[in-house]
Amino acid sequence: MERRDFLSNMGITLAIACTAGLAACGGKGDDPAPNPPGGGGGGGGGADKLTVNLATQVPNVGDYIISGGVVLIRLAAGNVPASFSAVTSTCTHMGCTLSGYNGGLIECLSACGHGSKYNPDGTVSNGPTTTALTKYTVTISGTTLTVK
Ligand code: FES
Repeated sequence: MERRDFLSNMGITLAIACTAGLAACGGKGDDPAPNPPGGGGGGGGGADKLTVNLATQVPNVGDYIISGGVVLIRLAAGNVPASFSAVTSTCTHMGCTLSGYNGGLIECLSACGHGSKYNPDGTVSNGPTTTALTKYTVTISGTTLTVK
């Protein structure tokens, strides 16, 4: 009987401790969640990833910007969407941020990179990666270029 009472009391004590612990964790867990990278989370759909002023940025063929999770490259003259390529700046090999655009290829040569290279349209030129980069849509209004 004493042993049964002891075990019963332990069960109640553990239940109270677990409930208190979960409540504490739940409170902390709710706070960091509202800002997922990339603003995914459903709802709006199609948030802008990058906005560029073409009057001052990427004026020459071969110019590029890596910002906002995007590699934006000017491939031709003229402020029309076909003159640009926009792809994700996250390497598909192991997730490093791509380092630059050189010799017509997007490179993964940052400190954590392993040398993969991609064509401007995001397809793989050189491994170790075997997966193309995600390509984004470019729109232009006046001198404002937007990547979605
Ligand atoms: S993370 Fe880019 S090549 Fe490995």
